[in-house]
Amino acid sequence: MDRYAVMGGNPLVGEVEIGGAKNAALAILAAAVMTDEPVTIENVPDVRDTNVLLQAMESIGVLIDRPERHTVVMNSSQICGCIIEDEFMKKIRASYYMIGALLGKYKRAEVPLPGGCNIGVRAIDQHLKGFRALGAKVEIAHGSIIAEAEELKGSHIFLDKVSVGATINIMMAATMASGKTTLENVAKEPHVVDLANFLNSMGANIKGAGTDVIRIKGVEKLHRTEYAIIPDQIEAGTFMVAAAASRGDVTVKNVIPKHLECITAKLQEIGCRVEEYDDAVRVVANGKLTSTQIKTLPYPGFPTDMQPQMTVALGLATGTSIVTEGIFDNRFKYVDELVRMGASIKVEGNMAVITGVEQYSGASITAPDLRAGAALVIAAIAADGETIIEDIKYIERGYEDFDKKLKRLGVRIEKVSNDRDLKKFRFKLA
Ligand code: EPZ
Repeated sequence: MDRYAVMGGNPLVGEVEIGGAKNAALAILAAAVMTDEPVTIENVPDVRDTNVLLQAMESIGVLIDRPERHTVVMNSSQICGCIIEDEFMKKIRASYYMIGALLGKYKRAEVPLPGGCNIGVRAIDQHLKGFRALGAKVEIAHGSIIAEAEELKGSHIFLDKVSVGATINIMMAATMASGKTTLENVAKEPHVVDLANFLNSMGANIKGAGTDVIRIKGVEKLHRTEYAIIPDQIEAGTFMVAAAASRGDVTVKNVIPKHLECITAKLQEIGCRVEEYDDAVRVVANGKLTSTQIKTLPYPGFPTDMQPQMTVALGLATGTSIVTEGIFDNRFKYVDELVRMGASIKVEGNMAVITGVEQYSGASITAPDLRAGAALVIAAIAADGETIIEDIKYIERGYEDFDKKLKRLGVRIEKVSNDRDLKKFRFKLA
């Protein structure tokens, strides 16, 4: 089982290139099945989540070519079924995007119910509400969601809760429905906008993505396209916060600064200097960090996927900070691991009260989920001594070459598969 070995104490210094947005890629790859013509998608991150979704698509007959690491060419004219196997859903929840895409194109989809998750209840009632509003019959049977419709008709849908997944899934299903669909109280994340732009590049008629109301005029057919995915807001934010926590100086390249505004504002609030360029941001943190308050909210609020990383940085700030998790109901599980590294954090429900400490100390810890795993790597970088991080498969679900990018920024980190590798890592540092 691969682990990360980290020797803390080095600040992050230098430049890092950000890859394509995982959460945009998952939606766009699924949506690409909605045309029988070839689709070329660039800037696809080479991470476990996207690779598993591509396998799920191949399992129903989608022809996939990967001429280079970050480019996918797809042809869905030979699709032989609309049933996604359980093995794929078990690996990634976003397999459920295949419902919106297959229902939209073929008026039928069968996908296993997504499993639980390490960050809380992950309901899908709003997804099903949207499909039903468009005229689909949706049943839950034998652990699967079965959605089918004679015809999908446009509808006026008001989401009870702002949901990225429901917004994306219903948008796909409505793209080829007859008539107009108005979607209200929608998610406005950059990856929702990226999906709308992708669908429009295939001939869809979607307006208002990124605002509270999305208006869709159904079209009969979608055509070929070539499209490049936006940079990953959360990967960029993770490196920005790592620079802050390690008191480094990092230029994060190939980003859209607008998508990072909330993270930038919070880092400036706690004492970092953040310089914005056309497609880069530079974070300089040479002084002590100071405390602040954060509540995670739907975009453009502070992203829940940056909550663990920010908590790690605030754990080293002077004073007491409060972090409130406004999206998920159990996203502080990683705090136990952080306390083992010397953090002083008290979790009460969806609120963490953080009393800054001078430094973390290295320990043997386990990554509980994707973003918390990345946050614990940040803690290890800022810690005194060695940290071993288990279950890095979670981290590799959403971060491409995470250890390699950190090493290039001066971090003493190594992916080790066995004790011999670990001995080599220690010997090199001795
Ligand atoms: C997406 O998950 C992201 N995943 C998550 O990123 C991200 O944390 C989340 O959006 C919020 O930004 C992908 O894009 C693949 P939601 P999603 O539906 O769509 C409740 C990562 O690290 N809800 O916006 O599942 C739900 O329980 C991952 O990359 C309902 O009640 O999130 C949650 O409390 C982790 N009913 C809240 O809404 C529904 O039908 C927000 O969930 C749907 C959601």
